[in-house]
Amino acid sequence: MSNKKILNLEYPVLGLSPMDGVTDSAYRYITKKYGNPDLIFTEFTNVIGLSVAGHHVLKDFHYDKSQKPIVAQIYGKDPEYFYHAAKIACELNFDAVDINMGCPAKNVASSGSGAALIKTPELAKEIIAATKEGVRHWVEDGKLTGLPTKTKNAIKALENEIGIEPHERQMIPVSVKTRIGFSEPITEQWISTVASMNPAWISVHGRTLKQMYLGEANWLEIKKAVEITDIPVLANGDIKTYDDYKRILEVTGAFGALIGRGSYGNPWIFKGRKFEDVSLEEKIKVLIEHTRKFVELNPDPKAFVQMRKHFGWYIKGFDGAKETREELMRANSTEEVELILGEFLH
Ligand SMILES: Cc1cc2nc3c(=O)[nH]c(=O)nc-3n(C[C@H](O)[C@H](O)[C@H](O)COP(=O)(O)O)c2cc1C
Repeated sequence: MSNKKILNLEYPVLGLSPMDGVTDSAYRYITKKYGNPDLIFTEFTNVIGLSVAGHHVLKDFHYDKSQKPIVAQIYGKDPEYFYHAAKIACELNFDAVDINMGCPAKNVASSGSGAALIKTPELAKEIIAATKEGVRHWVEDGKLTGLPTKTKNAIKALENEIGIEPHERQMIPVSVKTRIGFSEPITEQWISTVASMNPAWISVHGRTLKQMYLGEANWLEIKKAVEITDIPVLANGDIKTYDDYKRILEVTGAFGALIGRGSYGNPWIFKGRKFEDVSLEEKIKVLIEHTRKFVELNPDPKAFVQMRKHFGWYIKGFDGAKETREELMRANSTEEVELILGEFLH
């Protein structure tokens, strides 16, 4: 293999893909602890929201040191706000900044952000340049010039909460995560455009925006991306098992891969352990730990509903799973979850 690297990671790099509403700090903590992926991304976070943020928006950027190396993912369409968001990521000691050019969701793409940037390549390039400039300026002076006091205070509060100490001002990499086209695959053309801005790596989900999450991810298109650039490519889409991971590396020749949905209720996938081979007791213990962590980080009782989807992902594949899931879906606290699952633990 060549001397390519992502951060200080060598071939092959296996990461947890960013998933809004799923890969929050509790999910990342559990995934790192039980799966130990090489690389982890935050959920995508809006650049304007960040730049004018109070504490609630910055919450998406909560992490703990165990999750490192961790990449801050940002999205939007205004270069000047990418500039500010990049500085915030530096200030919060993230290991890299990733630009989302792949989200197909209506509320994101219809405003020209996410995967819609595939249609505006000049703007996409400006955004990469502005993000890099934000990093460079932060390294030069360590200042968050241009941000409102409210945002600066919220950043300080988050720094205290997660224990970020003053750190060396280093140029952190800027990467891009994208798809293979808007309505039809235009992989070579689009990936060349992105590559012309020299991002540190490019994550490629083998679907177009139009496909949303339907059909199959086209790994052969990802291979085309790998072949037209020397920049490391992370292949993504439909890795459901560790064997799929090995296969996607073979098929695409990529430098590594990202797993998204395959990690639902299954942090073990990153270690090559099959979900079926993990005992029910272990799954339940991890689910309870995940729930505790979630509540620790989200103490507002109203937030608990967000935890429920995870119950369905861990609790499956055994007699009585359906009934247990139904009970769990009515739970409102860690104690209730423990009570329901207690019978499975010795
Ligand atoms: C619920 C959900 C939320 C997602 N949120 C993001 C996101 O915030 N940023 C991003 O780049 N991709 C996001 N994605 C896309 C995934 O990172 C990944 O590219 C896609 O799911 C394909 O990989 P998979 O088949 O391994 O899940 C999301 C996907 C899902 C299912």
